[in-house]
Amino acid sequence: MEKKIEISPITGSLGAIIEGVDLSNFDVMDLEVVKDALNQHLVVKLPQQNLDRFKLSKLGSIFGPHFHHPIEKKGFRDCPEVLQLLHKPGDTKMFGGASWHADITWLKPCGYLSFLHAIEIPEVGGDTSFSSTISAFDTLSAGLKDLLRGLNGIHAYHWSEGKEQLPWIAEHPVVRTHPVSGLEGLFVNRMFTSRFSNMTASESKPLLEFLFNKMEIHEVTCRFRWNKGDLLIWDNRFTLHYPINDFFGNRREMIRTSVMETKGGTEAAEKLRDQKNGCM
Ligand code: SIN
Repeated sequence: MEKKIEISPITGSLGAIIEGVDLSNFDVMDLEVVKDALNQHLVVKLPQQNLDRFKLSKLGSIFGPHFHHPIEKKGFRDCPEVLQLLHKPGDTKMFGGASWHADITWLKPCGYLSFLHAIEIPEVGGDTSFSSTISAFDTLSAGLKDLLRGLNGIHAYHWSEGKEQLPWIAEHPVVRTHPVSGLEGLFVNRMFTSRFSNMTASESKPLLEFLFNKMEIHEVTCRFRWNKGDLLIWDNRFTLHYPINDFFGNRREMIRTSVMETKGGTEAAEKLRDQKNGCM
């Protein structure tokens, strides 16, 4: 019997649910369906996946070279490229919480896809919101679009431990073109973009704030409610995400892996880890 795959968009801007695919089989046709859906919808949810950390790692490696975080100590010892994002009752901070961001924009080449798999989900709360930077760019005037096409953004991650401090910095064009659809999207985010290249932070702030706000209007966002077994895959080059920290007193456990655009990104992360280790 032919299997039935259904792809249902969830908003007019981004996000889709793919049903009828079991990614634990690594079926080539299924993987093609997911790749195409990601190019079109930018973030996809696949319910009822049964992936342990090793399978999640293998799945990621089919899409790109793995990212090993230079400082986060959340990686599994036997599978360091997969992070355990565990929030216990009593924890107040949420990994990646309280700010719209894309993963690993402070490296060049930057982060490509992130894979987040739900192991344990609170009864209510803990949703994750996403924004389409393509739809946000589309809301701008022709004049502002032209101006932005000529700018680069400085993305920084500040690591500090005791007296040691290292800013890890990458410069990227403010506007990126999707390699498949040809659509343009903004590539700046609140968490990591500190200023435009050749401008001070205070000169950059008004325009950056304007762009951040444009990427947070409801019309360009979507929100996923989680169920145990869900897998979310998103494209960090054309989306932002915001994990919602509203499940106080409850447990939430996810596993996550991310892959880079090219092997150069993986090597850049390794260099940062060596730099950091040299400081200790
Ligand atoms: C993240 O920012 O990668 C975490 C997303 C989430 O836990 O919902």
